[in-house]
Amino acid sequence: MLQEMEITSPNGITSFIGASTGQWKVLSIKTIVGSALPIVDYVSTVKGVVNLDLQSTSSWIIKSFTSNLRYTKRDEKQELNEKSRTLGNPEFNHAAMIPIKKSEAWWQLAQDERRKIFEEDSKHIQSSTRYLPFISRQLHHSRDLGEDFDFVTWFEFSSKHDEEFNSLCYTLRKTEEWKYVDREIDIRMVKV
Ligand code: HEM
Repeated sequence: MLQEMEITSPNGITSFIGASTGQWKVLSIKTIVGSALPIVDYVSTVKGVVNLDLQSTSSWIIKSFTSNLRYTKRDEKQELNEKSRTLGNPEFNHAAMIPIKKSEAWWQLAQDERRKIFEEDSKHIQSSTRYLPFISRQLHHSRDLGEDFDFVTWFEFSSKHDEEFNSLCYTLRKTEEWKYVDREIDIRMVKV
């Protein structure tokens, strides 16, 4: 079992694993932009770096870690804390894993320029906080681990809110921020 294969992580690393068995059954994998990821039947999340046995039976593994906030202001953080739901809610039977890579132009910007595009221009936080009561989420960072993606975003929600989640993705993908997205894969899953 996956749980027996994980290695205790000293640094909060999570590995996202695409394989022929796992915790979440894949419903669809759509390439939004950039090169595709190999199609898999299941996705699992494992704390730590996975061992060689699991690596050899997986189609892909993306390592990531959770980190401090970069762009969120105090009042926004307070609202997020008040409204956010924890992952693992038994009623939230659907999940979305959306790995994203941003362009070199994005990373060449200064922090204040990125914040302006992210929130003042694109309203990433302002337009998405209203979804928090029924979508739980976790942002993971991969860029500093040298992975092919800069972020792995993970969401859990009830299947009755699929359309709201689609609508949120549609809104975000039309923003100025998304002009800097070079690669994005949208993986939808149902809990096994
Ligand atoms: C459920 C509603 C959502 C909320 C409340 C939300 C909120 C946030 C917040 C507060 C941050 C900034 C973290 C920081 O300060 O460093 C962030 C970053 C990010 N979000 Fe969302 N988000 C939501 C949905 C989404 C969706 C649907 C996607 C993908 C389609 C997405 C992709 C990202 C990415 C890639 C980042 C990292 C941006 C960067 O650092 O350049 N978010 N989100």
